[in-house]
Amino acid sequence: MSEQPDHYFTAQPASAAERRRAVVELAGREVEVDVASGVFSPGGVDKGTRVLLREVPAPPASGDLLDLGCGWGPLALTMALASPGATVWAVDVNERALDLLRSTAARLGLENVRAVRAEDVPDGVRFAAIWSNPPIRVGKAVLHDLLRAWFPRLAPDAAAWLVVQKNLGSDSLARWIEAELGRGVERASSSKGFRVLRVD
Ligand SMILES: C[S@@+](CC[C@H](N)C(=O)[O-])C[C@H]1O[C@@H](n2cnc3c(N)ncnc32)[C@H](O)[C@@H]1O
Repeated sequence: MSEQPDHYFTAQPASAAERRRAVVELAGREVEVDVASGVFSPGGVDKGTRVLLREVPAPPASGDLLDLGCGWGPLALTMALASPGATVWAVDVNERALDLLRSTAARLGLENVRAVRAEDVPDGVRFAAIWSNPPIRVGKAVLHDLLRAWFPRLAPDAAAWLVVQKNLGSDSLARWIEAELGRGVERASSSKGFRVLRVD
């Protein structure tokens, strides 16, 4: 994850929106997405996110899927394009990011994307997969609370796929998940300074 000029993990970023469109490749096709300053990686698909997208298996074709910390939505959009029969929940604290993703999804006709705040995901929803480039820079306490809140909502036999930069603590996060959450973690791959973790 590269340094950002603004706090992209706040609800209302301070910077002016400077909204624009970018053309990126997701799910094997070129799509036009809405991006803006004040959200994570406004210049295109982040390097870590690209590593995750390369390594993760295709999402389940149906059920509820989660992009945890969606930003402008590269992971959620990929899941929605690849699995039109699934419902893709995309959560973030950053309202600007949610707005951008809603616009992109509407323009692409992806009616299966729900870009919402965490509290707007109904309690009973269980996820057939979770994909995340999680917010490491919020600090360990917030990150741990986030994973503690969402991992129990994985359906039986479902997995979460995370990408974490090695020098931002991917291995210690993997050990924490195993020890504190009692889940199996496979170091699925490692590339360009990032590790992809598969969490059972
Ligand atoms: C590393 S960025 C990844 C963004 C996007 N998934 C991508 O791959 O470009 C992490 C995201 O998590 C969001 N975030 C921070 N704290 C959060 C929280 N408590 N709940 C949900 N999302 C959060 C940030 O606003 C940011 O958009």
